[in-house]
Amino acid sequence: MSQFFVSTSKGLEDALTNELMDMGFMHPRKTNAGVYLDCNWEDVYKINLNSRIASRVLKPVLDFIAYQPDEFYNQVFKNHDFTKYIKPNESFMIDASVTDCKMSDQRFVALKLKDAICDQFREKYDVRPDINKDFPTVKFYVKGYKNKFSIAIDTTGESLFLRGYRNNAGAAPLKENLAAAIISMTGWKKDIPIVDLTCGSGTILIEAALMALNVAPGAFRKKFGFENFISFNREKWSKVVDETVSQEKEEVPFKFYGYDSDRTVLKKAKENAERAGVDHLIEFRCEDLSTIQPPCEKGIVIMNPPYGVRLGDLDNLRDVYRDLGFTLKNRFKGWDCYILSGNKELTYDLKLKSNQKFFLYNGPLECRLLKYSIKEEKEIKKPSEVSV
Ligand SMILES: C[S@@+](CC[C@H](N)C(=O)[O-])C[C@H]1O[C@@H](n2cnc3c(N)ncnc32)[C@H](O)[C@@H]1O
Repeated sequence: MSQFFVSTSKGLEDALTNELMDMGFMHPRKTNAGVYLDCNWEDVYKINLNSRIASRVLKPVLDFIAYQPDEFYNQVFKNHDFTKYIKPNESFMIDASVTDCKMSDQRFVALKLKDAICDQFREKYDVRPDINKDFPTVKFYVKGYKNKFSIAIDTTGESLFLRGYRNNAGAAPLKENLAAAIISMTGWKKDIPIVDLTCGSGTILIEAALMALNVAPGAFRKKFGFENFISFNREKWSKVVDETVSQEKEEVPFKFYGYDSDRTVLKKAKENAERAGVDHLIEFRCEDLSTIQPPCEKGIVIMNPPYGVRLGDLDNLRDVYRDLGFTLKNRFKGWDCYILSGNKELTYDLKLKSNQKFFLYNGPLECRLLKYSIKEEKEIKKPSEVSV
């Protein structure tokens, strides 16, 4: 067992911790924008393939303190063998971030790390790997904070939120792992329909449909970073893939419903759903939210209406929120509705009282996921039934 770091977006740490525990991992340790976990390489394959909320899985390999460039170089050169991950004729790249360090220039820190790694290869093989910024064989991360440096190896490759089914997005799409985290925060048990009244490119519904069918979020990827490692165990990887695929279902006994007033974005949503293989489960309809009727008797609403940062201007949006509040209050009685919003003022226009709040980030923007349990209409007694 070794320690790994599973990273995610800020605000999704709890959702990721729960997901990892559901996957059977004991004692994940939550920290800023991620979770530390003790596990083996087979588990790393499993997390990369199956986590809907993680961004990447990193293997921390070296921690040290350094104030000067030579000190930094020597620590790397002497204390960890970087030649064991890739062959000398392959390539790597470095991602550096530095805060409050004496070596304050992150490009310079990356350069020193590169020199130390290349010199290890030169000493051992007389050749050094190339630097490849676009398609490296392996990516190293170096993070410096108050002169403490940590170096980690990326096992993921392209970030996990890029599932691969979404070539077409609307103007303000949710990241796929944020959509999945929102669904998990609602406590949805994969047993009732989900309705999205402003579905855009369909991310929430496509993620939900994949969850319902137990299709791994990594099912569409061509390659993971760990497949390039010298130590990659193809047999173990095949076992993980087979186990995952054996859980897949083809059908569920309910549907998902997506509405949007923009016909063009709905076309993209349909194409995305087709690429994800879930188009048979999602009904997309072009309709303004002011006129939508519930498409089924019981379900939950999960949606992120526009909130003014990227789409629409504020006055128009106030009308959209008033319409939304009216639709939910009058037509979705007895439903739980979850709304992601980045604008508190606009949510006042819903004229609904939320009964639960989650704080999260959509990119750099602090948002809330608000739960509204819409009251069932009280039975109005006929005057003849009223006892006197
Ligand atoms: C923030 S985007 C949703 C993004 C979506 N979750 C995704 O991942 O692509 C908001 C969507 O609301 C739609 N919209 C705006 N006003 C609407 C209205 N009055 N009725 C229905 N849809 C509306 C926009 O066309 C846009 O696609």
